[in-house]
Amino acid sequence: MSALSGKHIILGICGGIAAYKSVTLLRLLIKAGAEVQVVMTPAGKEFITPVTLSSLSQKPVVSEFFTANTGEWHSHVDLGLWADCMVIAPATASTIGKMAHGIADNMLVTTYLSAKSQVFVAPAMDLDMMAHPSTTANINLLRSYGNIIIEPESGELASGLVGKGRMEEPEKIAETLERYFSATVDMKGKKVLVTAGPTHEKIDPVRFIGNYSSGKMGYALAEECASRGAEVTLVSGPVSLSVHNPAVKLVRVESAREMLAACEEAFPSSDVAVMCAAVADYAPRTVADHKIKREHSDVPVIELVKNPDIAATLGKMKRSGQLLVGFALETDNEADNAREKLKRKNLDMIVLNSMRDKGAGFGTDTNKVTVFKADGSREEFGLKPKSEVATDIVDAIMSI
Ligand code: CTP
Repeated sequence: MSALSGKHIILGICGGIAAYKSVTLLRLLIKAGAEVQVVMTPAGKEFITPVTLSSLSQKPVVSEFFTANTGEWHSHVDLGLWADCMVIAPATASTIGKMAHGIADNMLVTTYLSAKSQVFVAPAMDLDMMAHPSTTANINLLRSYGNIIIEPESGELASGLVGKGRMEEPEKIAETLERYFSATVDMKGKKVLVTAGPTHEKIDPVRFIGNYSSGKMGYALAEECASRGAEVTLVSGPVSLSVHNPAVKLVRVESAREMLAACEEAFPSSDVAVMCAAVADYAPRTVADHKIKREHSDVPVIELVKNPDIAATLGKMKRSGQLLVGFALETDNEADNAREKLKRKNLDMIVLNSMRDKGAGFGTDTNKVTVFKADGSREEFGLKPKSEVATDIVDAIMSI
């Protein structure tokens, strides 16, 4: 049986050529056993008739706030509560802009604003509109509100031009929804703490000691835990990433000491903590309160002091029932060093990145990891995108 069976789905259709594909999408959803309510923008009706859609969905299409002859009010609030998910396909640049900024001048956008469930957005437009910075910014805003963007494909467009902007195929959109409903929510009710990124240790007001960590692995882990139902606190050093899932609370810090303070606060109420940050091991003993000037000083000597070990500190605080996971970035004696860190920091699992593997480690979009557990077991994974590595790591955590 399909995971879509019995699900209440709002299908939002905007005014774009790709609206003809919405008919196929509707048929696929109905065939999978979903109950579908179509909501169209006024422009949507110019591309595909409500008669076709209401025949297939066996429900009157909603497009206006009122039925003209009876004055019956169509409640977007009730629709928003009824839905298990909403999918807007095609989503035009104009509707995406309205959704991003809360311009509720039609039934589709008001329904979107009232929807309490997950919303999927499948953009479709010409390549230049798609590439315009305002479209990019609006799509990013929608993402930051927790909506899932079903990326358009590159290919031949209605204009005859070739580029990115073709709505994803209906089969793929239906698959995305199916995956969403069949996804594991095995972390529901769990609180997870994740650290990510580098730390910056101030030398003076304009300089710091840092490292090349991009934060991508930690952010992917936070998103993965949130998508599996966890409530996540992501303590992040300075990186240029943002979080998409509203279940991730982002706490921005700069130095190792600030990161430690944020972790000490969040850890007591956490079920799982994943220490993914590349914490600087040393910090300058003193921070100059003004910029160290070249002419006025000899070559400066920066005296360093050891930073606290956040993972080891949490290892000492750990109660029974809590899981503590660390990372190890090694260049030599990888497995032995990783196992030694696992013991020394009182971890339940450690994830080894080897700097010897091409495409793994700092700054890349891929990673190759080996997981060591406190029970002595070991599991090795292939080179994959960091989002998939996050799935493997969380699977390994859940199997402890
Ligand atoms: N870690 C930490 N606080 C530190 C240093 C490391 O919490 N001050 C955590 C990292 O987030 C990671 C694990 O400890 O989960 C191992 O980090 P790594 O840099 O590999 O190890 P170090 O303990 O710093 O040892 P070394 O630099 O000697 O390899």
